[in-house]
Amino acid sequence: MKQKGLFLETFGCQMNVVDSERIVALMKDLGYAQVDAPEKADLILLNTCTVRDKAERKVYGHLGHFKPLKEANPNLVIGVGGCVAQQEGEKLLQTLKHVDLVFGTHNIHKLPEMVQAATGEKIRSSEVEFLDRDTRLQLFPERTDEGGPTRFVTIMQGCDNFCSYCIVPHVRGREVSRPSREIVEEVRALIDQGVKEITLLGQNVNSYGIKESGEISFADLLRQVNAVEGLERLRFTTSHPKDMSDDLVACFGELDKLCPQLQLPLQSGSNRILEAMNRGYTRERYLEQVRKLKELQPDIRFTTDVIVGFPGETEEDFEQTMEVLEEVRYSDIYSFLYSPRKGTAAYDLTDDTPKDIRQARFDRMMDLQRRTSTEIWAQDLKTVVPVLVEGKARLGNGQVFGRTVWNRIVNFEGGLNLVGQVVPVRILENTTNSQVGVLDDLSETATMESKPANGAKEAS
Ligand code: SAH
Ligand code: SF4
Ligand code: F3S
Repeated sequence: MKQKGLFLETFGCQMNVVDSERIVALMKDLGYAQVDAPEKADLILLNTCTVRDKAERKVYGHLGHFKPLKEANPNLVIGVGGCVAQQEGEKLLQTLKHVDLVFGTHNIHKLPEMVQAATGEKIRSSEVEFLDRDTRLQLFPERTDEGGPTRFVTIMQGCDNFCSYCIVPHVRGREVSRPSREIVEEVRALIDQGVKEITLLGQNVNSYGIKESGEISFADLLRQVNAVEGLERLRFTTSHPKDMSDDLVACFGELDKLCPQLQLPLQSGSNRILEAMNRGYTRERYLEQVRKLKELQPDIRFTTDVIVGFPGETEEDFEQTMEVLEEVRYSDIYSFLYSPRKGTAAYDLTDDTPKDIRQARFDRMMDLQRRTSTEIWAQDLKTVVPVLVEGKARLGNGQVFGRTVWNRIVNFEGGLNLVGQVVPVRILENTTNSQVGVLDDLSETATMESKPANGAKEAS
């Protein structure tokens, strides 16, 4: 059978990245291999995101580019999946005549038959039905793919939090947690394949298991995964501060493989705005959690998400967010201008803050954060840090790359034989989102790995 070309574009968050890996595996069974340009493809699939208006517009932009390709080659099949597909469904087929199939976030398993129908009898179809809990758990994909030394393991899907600005619960459906036994088995299987680092993944991992009868808590799941022999590093994303239990906080002082790094979305530092956002915590509680975490794990570095310009945000509200940024000192933040999403509770809220004021606040926040980030990453200069080597550097300069415990990419001179090893690297330079280093004396690796703390070692 002649291999056919699949051009797959993935937008949005890690959930989509994992879904795309599944799509690649399913399409491989149908004889498709990935190609690097749409011109070479027999099948073009977009896995889309609709979290902000800009993300959605990008999808339509890309789809527009594919229209001439379809006109030139009527056998080309074009499909749209992910969160825009979930939201728009059948409508996409009506408005975009060059699109053949639309598959929602619960319908990836339907893709093979939809692609076959589109290639064979040229049937256009749309599948965006939400599935019930049991069906979803049965369909939960097990990871069988081969890959590098780091892997995401999905522990839950969906979100029940309904933050008032957020479309995710509407396009990903209700929250379900996978049985812990399956998760731990999957981690074991991945470690047997040579994986060294696992990131447990979900929209809100902290509420893992709460709604499943007899299931263990997220903190206990972390303990079980941490105990898997051969695992070097453990991370998780994303946390919700409202479900961050004291027991989970305690894990940062207790688990030797848990990296001292935490993405803890703040969204706003003003209690008034947090309430309007339906976030379920106060700034005081958030800061208390941060203080406890810093106490238990002094090496910890935080990252966060912040929304600027939520309807009704005053100068004072904004200042309160800036204060939290100054107190926590995040190593990086992901900040967004509020974008109204149809179907969410906040959509109808009016906002009289002029656009240029919102933008000026956003810029001020970026300035503050740039200074803090520079200071924090500068602490690494000249120190030797353990780096888990992942592969060839993307710069194409013959270097390899890996990550520090703080999830920073480090590029350095080294052979591919180092892939999968934790090696000592002296940090020489910070670039915008990564670091440049030089391999330190390899004989130190053994002592570093036996050290319980994950943190950096001072340069001698
Ligand atoms: N479940 C994760 C990720 C949610 S989406 C979490 O709770 O952190 C990623 C980020 O996008 C959110 O944290 C939020 O900061 C931002 N976001 C979501 N909806 C938004 C909107 N309508 N406008 C602007 N930013 C938004
Ligand atoms: Fe959206 Fe809130 Fe759910 Fe995160 S926790 S996905 S911000 S609704
Ligand atoms: Fe975007 Fe969907 Fe993720 S809306 S952020 S891809 S869950």
